[in-house]
Amino acid sequence: MKSVYMKTYGCQMNVYDSERMRDTLRTMGYGETEKPDNADLVIFNTCHIREHAAEKVYSELGRMRKFKADNPDMLVAVAGCVAQAEGDEILRRAKTVDLVFGPQSYHRLPELIAKRVETGVAQVETEFPAEEKFVVLEQQAGNRVLNRTISAFLTVQEGCDKFCTFCVVPYTRGAEFSREPDQILAEARRLVKAGVREVTLLGQNVNAYLGNGMTLARLIAKLSQIEGIERLRYTTSHPRDMDDALIEAHAGNLKLMPFLHLPVQSGSDRVLKAMNRGHRVDDYYEIVAKVRKARPDMALSSDFIVGFPGETEKDFEATLNLVERIGYASAYSFKYSPRPGTPASEHADQVPDDVAAARLARLQTLIYAQQTAFNQSCLGRTLPVLVEKKGRFDGQMVGRSPYLQPVHVSGSIADIGTIQNVRIEAIGTNSLSGHYAVVET
Ligand code: 5AD
Ligand code: SF4
Repeated sequence: MKSVYMKTYGCQMNVYDSERMRDTLRTMGYGETEKPDNADLVIFNTCHIREHAAEKVYSELGRMRKFKADNPDMLVAVAGCVAQAEGDEILRRAKTVDLVFGPQSYHRLPELIAKRVETGVAQVETEFPAEEKFVVLEQQAGNRVLNRTISAFLTVQEGCDKFCTFCVVPYTRGAEFSREPDQILAEARRLVKAGVREVTLLGQNVNAYLGNGMTLARLIAKLSQIEGIERLRYTTSHPRDMDDALIEAHAGNLKLMPFLHLPVQSGSDRVLKAMNRGHRVDDYYEIVAKVRKARPDMALSSDFIVGFPGETEKDFEATLNLVERIGYASAYSFKYSPRPGTPASEHADQVPDDVAAARLARLQTLIYAQQTAFNQSCLGRTLPVLVEKKGRFDGQMVGRSPYLQPVHVSGSIADIGTIQNVRIEAIGTNSLSGHYAVVET
């Protein structure tokens, strides 16, 4: 049996892509190994969103040199968004690399491997091929039962047409594309057969989904009719695409979990305009108010960028003000990173690094306080927890609350894949813990 070592960077869409590559590689006779040292194939599925993410892969590639010296037949592949953005350039910077392929081409992996072995020449594939990646992947996976955990991702939409001025995604993932509903429903049924109970629908702009005229709200309604699917989530949404039907789905559909990741990026109208976000701060408040009306216990999350070119102290304070006003259950925040080819990277008024770093620290302190407050608000409540796996300690299980918090449950062992009522008795930094609730009869 041949072995593959895979390392995945970046967003959940990359995690999903790696999973699909694994499906294909399994049918090709590859087993997975935890270490790259003796692997026959090493794949780095990369992210280009910030400079730091993109540079990490080059240090990993450097590390591969010595393994390849001992094991000259080893193939090293760079997949994903760095591959798409940099193409041939990767071969120049890292001589160990044999294969480079972008996110639209990973279904071509079998032929790329064959060609590389046959010709001895490194292969680069960064076109957006005409054939449909997902259809080919489905064929490659064959009829075997997929190897998945209780909670799985399912990409329904890819790409972006919105061109936020800071972002590389429209260049690395291409234009917005939605998969056919039938294909998605078939994949969801396949996931259920593999034991999956929670499906998170993925898309760079998931709420812009429009597959054969079907909206995300309709797709969610269809998916929730599939027996075996207990929970549905979706991410990442853009405020501009948060339509009333989707908001209403949160009121009526009990399988749809009360957690919404809705990135706003900044609390300043001036900055939102410069980012080309296409909405104002007040529009965001309005959406959040509607969402909370539909589902009062909705937990909210967002992404923020601090130090965007031209951001003043006043703009930054507007962001803090927005965070105070919304009250997030969790949020991600990043220092602006200029990306090659994006309009904002050419802006004359770049914010000095120390200023951006100080703003990031202030924002993260506030977000952390809100996350702790949100976790504390769960103390004493009984929450339905989807049990996902055994914990580290005897008799302990780990699952997730409806609000996406990991929950450690002790007391006895419940079946993996079931939803159990858990009384929350303690909180940690990023998780909750408790015991199975005794249901009164
Ligand atoms: N610099 C910093 N953060 C960025 N993001 C996207 N592009 C950049 C960039 N150039 C952040 C945004 C986005 C998240 C996935 O990454 O907040 O929502
Ligand atoms: Fe990174 Fe964006 Fe590519 Fe995801 S889509 S891997 S976040 S660059």
